[in-house]
Amino acid sequence: MRLILLGPPGAGKGTQAQGLADHFDIVHISTGDMFRGAIKNQTPLGLKAKAFLDEGELVPDDVTIGIVKERLEKNDCDRGFLLDGFPRTLIQAETLTEMLANLGKPLDGAININVDRIKLMARLTGRRICRHCGAAYHIVFNPPPKEGECGKCGGPLYQRDDDNEATCENRLNVYESQTAPLIEYYAGQEILHNIQGDQEIDKVFADILAAVTPQ
Ligand code: AP5
Ligand code: MG
Ligand code: ZN
Repeated sequence: MRLILLGPPGAGKGTQAQGLADHFDIVHISTGDMFRGAIKNQTPLGLKAKAFLDEGELVPDDVTIGIVKERLEKNDCDRGFLLDGFPRTLIQAETLTEMLANLGKPLDGAININVDRIKLMARLTGRRICRHCGAAYHIVFNPPPKEGECGKCGGPLYQRDDDNEATCENRLNVYESQTAPLIEYYAGQEILHNIQGDQEIDKVFADILAAVTPQ
């Protein structure tokens, strides 16, 4: 199974990704997580990417495409993969199509999770993340069993630097101008699945499974 997760910031891509990767036994590839890891470790990639993430702008296509290409060429992707947060521009999407055609591994589906903009702001500004395992929580919509502590591994929770109101506004604008056009692109390829993201987390998961599981 080879899938991509589309949808605006806060739609629930990361929340759904791990369950889907486990269910299909495929690799979860999040470009946002890759950039945050590189920034934390102060690698050359991290130094390049930091200013873009801080502003809520997209990292340039050549940089982003380079790291995804390298990742998709690893052997573990042979069993399938789930791309979370990539592609995000038409150039990224077209390059991905070409890259996967060359590898003989075309996409099976593009999952587009829809949520209204007002709800997205609330989701983003209330999000908390586990420093150890990366699990995402929400102070109201998906609270951890014990405040400030991950229910899965006990790690401490933190707030992402780009989850402040001003940066979130910009991320949502960038999504609308640069990424939303990909919905049309994948509809044209006849692999698009529109999912209602404003439902309980488990219900969203069930809807995604029903949409992508071959009949
Ligand atoms: P990235 O990390 O991909 O961030 P994003 O797209 O802004 O998406 P988020 O991770 O914020 O949202 P999500 O959909 O994963 O939501 P989540 O499941 O956490 O990218 C960050 C930055 O990296 C970009 O701004 C850019 O600079 C750079 N970048 C990354 N990829 C790039 C690319 N391809 N090209 C160029 N630059 C790139 O859920 C959000 C919250 O809602 C959580 O609190 C969660 O608990 C809650 N929630 C989830 N589901 C529900 C539900 N059903 N009901 C109620 N609450 C819910
Ligand atoms: Mg995410
Ligand atoms: Zn954890």
